[in-house]
Amino acid sequence: MCQYKCGNIRCKAIPLAAHRMSVEQALLGRRSVRAFLTRPVSRSAVERILELASQSASNSNGQPWQVHVLTGAAKDRLTAALLKAHEGGGRVQKCEFDYQPRPDEWVEPFLSRRSEFGQGLYGKTLGIEFTDLVGRDSHHRRNYEFFGAPVGIILTVSRHQLDSALIDAGLFLQAVMLTARAAGLDTCPQASFLDYYPVLRRHLNIPDDHRIVCGISLGYADKTHPLYSFTTPRQCVKDFATFYEDRAEDAIGMDGSTPGIGSLPQRPTQENSGGSEIDIDHVPWAGWMQDFPEQPGSRRH
Ligand SMILES: Cc1cc2nc3c(=O)[nH]c(=O)nc-3n(C[C@H](O)[C@H](O)[C@H](O)COP(=O)(O)O)c2cc1C
Repeated sequence: MCQYKCGNIRCKAIPLAAHRMSVEQALLGRRSVRAFLTRPVSRSAVERILELASQSASNSNGQPWQVHVLTGAAKDRLTAALLKAHEGGGRVQKCEFDYQPRPDEWVEPFLSRRSEFGQGLYGKTLGIEFTDLVGRDSHHRRNYEFFGAPVGIILTVSRHQLDSALIDAGLFLQAVMLTARAAGLDTCPQASFLDYYPVLRRHLNIPDDHRIVCGISLGYADKTHPLYSFTTPRQCVKDFATFYEDRAEDAIGMDGSTPGIGSLPQRPTQENSGGSEIDIDHVPWAGWMQDFPEQPGSRRH
């Protein structure tokens, strides 16, 4: 048993500051933060986040992830090299692997969601017109500064594990983001680093048999920055889930409703916060396990 009595027999690291947040609160409170305070994050906190994230599932327990953690002058040197490449036209024409569709390859409904995201971030939140390339670039380049966060992480996975490694990396990434949130910290996952992957490979000595997955900014959110108010919507469960039930009345979506979850807390947005300040450190906790008693006649597998 860990000396800190966290209950995890595999845990050897120190605990994070006790924020006492449920998984539900961490999920509802997590979002991509793009403006950070300079307030430092201790190395022990980063180690604890990584230790907890390493408890993620992976295919046959392969644990194919590696992380490169940058702070201080090391982070600044990487940022300088990335910005030099960015300004000198060093953006790669083709990523190392097919990470995402080219702009002309996006299809519906993803195309509309992407465009809504871009308009929300650049247009509504930052007031930058779509045609204002200089304005757009002034925000985009902040990616390479890890949005001012004191900790920058580059996540890589073994190439030998094929696409299964990318699934494992996604689980690890999510665990990093949720654990950070539960500790009162915030994150932004960033694929933008892939546009300059040769710079990363050179600076961090990333071997050829590892694929670069993304960067992660980690730190304390700057809650006074306009970007802190930017939130993204989600599809309803009935729009992406199909339930196969024994009894017709158990089915979700027949009348468009999701039985039982109407009263649960939603992700805080400007709309549902009635225009008041959003504070993701204070997401209410429904204690949903108690709200879902076993239904008579329902089968759990
Ligand atoms: C793999 C991945 C790569 C991403 N790359 C970037 C990026 O380069 N820059 C950025 O500002 N946000 C990036 N994001 C954040 C997404 O835009 C964000 O997750 C999405 O809009 C949903 O918003 P939310 O994270 O606030 O819930 C990335 C997210 C993921 C999962």
